[in-house]
Amino acid sequence: MERARPSRSRAEALRKEIAHHNYRYHVLDAPEITDTEYDALFRELEAIEQAHPDWITPDSPTQRVGAAPLTEYAAVTHRVPMLSLANAFSEADVEGFDRRVREAVDAERIEYCCEPKFDGLAVTLAYEHGRLVQGATRGDGYTGEDVTANVRTIRAIPLSLDSKHAPRLLEVRGEVLMLRRSFALLNERQSARGERTFVNARNAAAGSLRQLDSRLTAARPLTFYAYGIGAFEGSEPPAKHSELLEFLRELCFRVAAQRRVVYGVDGLLAYYDELGALRAELPFDIDGVVYKVNSLRQQAALGFVSRAPRFALAHKFPAEEAVTTVTGIEVQVGRTGALTPVARLQPVFVGGVTVTNATLHNEDEIRRKDVRIGDSVIVRRAGDVIPEVVRVLAERRPADARIFHMPKHCPVCGSDVYREPEEAVSRCAGGLVCAAQRKQALLHFASRRAIDIDGFGEKIVDQLVELAMVHTPADIYRLSVEQLASLERMGEKSAANLHAAIERSRRTTLSRLIYALGIRHVGEATARDLADHFGSLDAIVHADAQSLLQVCEVGAVIAASIERFFAEPHNREVIDALRAAGVTWPEGAAKAADSIGPASGKTFVLTGTLPNLSRDEVRDRIQAAGGKVSGSVSKKTDYVVAGADPGSKLAKAQELGVTVLDEKQLLQVLEIGGDSSHGESTARKDRRD
Ligand code: IVH
Repeated sequence: MERARPSRSRAEALRKEIAHHNYRYHVLDAPEITDTEYDALFRELEAIEQAHPDWITPDSPTQRVGAAPLTEYAAVTHRVPMLSLANAFSEADVEGFDRRVREAVDAERIEYCCEPKFDGLAVTLAYEHGRLVQGATRGDGYTGEDVTANVRTIRAIPLSLDSKHAPRLLEVRGEVLMLRRSFALLNERQSARGERTFVNARNAAAGSLRQLDSRLTAARPLTFYAYGIGAFEGSEPPAKHSELLEFLRELCFRVAAQRRVVYGVDGLLAYYDELGALRAELPFDIDGVVYKVNSLRQQAALGFVSRAPRFALAHKFPAEEAVTTVTGIEVQVGRTGALTPVARLQPVFVGGVTVTNATLHNEDEIRRKDVRIGDSVIVRRAGDVIPEVVRVLAERRPADARIFHMPKHCPVCGSDVYREPEEAVSRCAGGLVCAAQRKQALLHFASRRAIDIDGFGEKIVDQLVELAMVHTPADIYRLSVEQLASLERMGEKSAANLHAAIERSRRTTLSRLIYALGIRHVGEATARDLADHFGSLDAIVHADAQSLLQVCEVGAVIAASIERFFAEPHNREVIDALRAAGVTWPEGAAKAADSIGPASGKTFVLTGTLPNLSRDEVRDRIQAAGGKVSGSVSKKTDYVVAGADPGSKLAKAQELGVTVLDEKQLLQVLEIGGDSSHGESTARKDRRD
């Protein structure tokens, strides 16, 4: 191709031409030239700009990509807040909306503009004198994140607007999203490269836009649809929303081709049905339609309620469903040891994603729905939630369909599987050893109210588990300073500190240890009761349900849970290993009665915030004085300790005539006992009403 002489005006002409072809390709989906021809224009411009860097303009198409990566996004305060929309799920909701609008503007029939509700991310684009100066996410509606460098890489977003029509300041609002076909290609590319794929186009769009390195955003096929404006200064905006969309289209933005002006509630519902029927064929994902009062004057008159405009409504589509076959039923073990049966499905496209499995919740659900391996089923997907099996198409059941049985042993660690009475969930009994529960178990073990290893948080646990340095709590005590220092973001100082904290935690108490084991239903109070009652760990390990029931507050479910925990050999091995690692606690004889202290035999309930003591501190002090802390107020409650902003518990206490203490009074009671005349009278005198 013959090239014109490299001049400043040639550069400007090339920019215009490239912007035009960009628009044809990325907005209209109707290119006029081939990719090769486009590339040639682009390279010519690049060559001129390289030779004359001072000729480069910020809105040159060569300047879309290349900003240096950020370390964080700057905050942007929106000139006009980016509010949310009220939702409607039924025709009645829509009728109510239309009625309220009619009443408010005193009109018989309302003109509405209807649009698809895009399932992407809201952004606002600020143009000053026609130049794109800032792009920001919605954030909390009032403050968002500055993603200017990222939005500049989106080819459907013009870097400059036709200056004849653009006002002095224009904020264009709309949705960044990924078209379905682009999303499919992206996922193919990701999996071909062995990189992670995205569950749906919205997640892919969100993940792509929110990159600190805008060059990564540039490599992702994002697009943008405009649906409104924020600030508009320097000229008069159009009188109707539909005209506004037309204006944005003329400024070279994508606007939904499916927009339509309709009248009255019948018009709204007809549009909803029509778009619902079209939904599967649209080039992008939508999760409903949006109705907006078309007259901007009426919009202004309607105004806003809480965080949503009164003039607009999002009418959501119901969750999408599809038919497929169950090829198998597998069991997943969660962080807390719950076993969840999952149906493996013949892959099926539903709600904009390919679904390959669906949760069956638990055994009872499987029986209730009578789902068998080989069955044809209806699966449903709503929003981002895990797809589920709605029902079986019994008439299509093959002769060899198989019934599912919950495994007797945990598929992850081989420990026993159990179900508590009245509970639908099956659980793995190997709390201390199961790899699925490992992180959770370690975090709980090390937590402040348990063994209390300061600094042993989630980031550390994640690494220790992933690097296979720690399998069970006992392994924590074998870690060397060097090993700890080898972890990410761990300096030598912090490694030494953490190691010292681990060392300190070796000396603990029986009740902390019992609590730290993470036995189901055994919270701190029960752990303390068990320690007090039995005096030694061995006595608890060997206690049968009968003797466990002797402990006050231990009922059948808790007793069974404790017995089961210690019956699991894997768990006992960990306890032996803890002892071998040098974890010690004082043991004593079993106590016949509750411990004696100024508050022994008294039950306290806490509500609100105290001026000096945290909740944990209050609890510790009450327990140290022999008292018990309970979660709810009843006739048996002796004291309610109330701080600032008390909840309903204070009212309940007053209703039942329970003594209410403030912090000072509580400390008195704990010191000298509530029954002494002094303590009691002070408490009563200052009682809150
Ligand atoms: S108008 C003041 N129109 O829905 C109302 N929003 O719940 C401003 N959305 O975060 C919103 N498609 O990102 C409007 N055609 C459309 C929309 C739309 C999707 C999103 C928007 C916002 C959310 C509001």
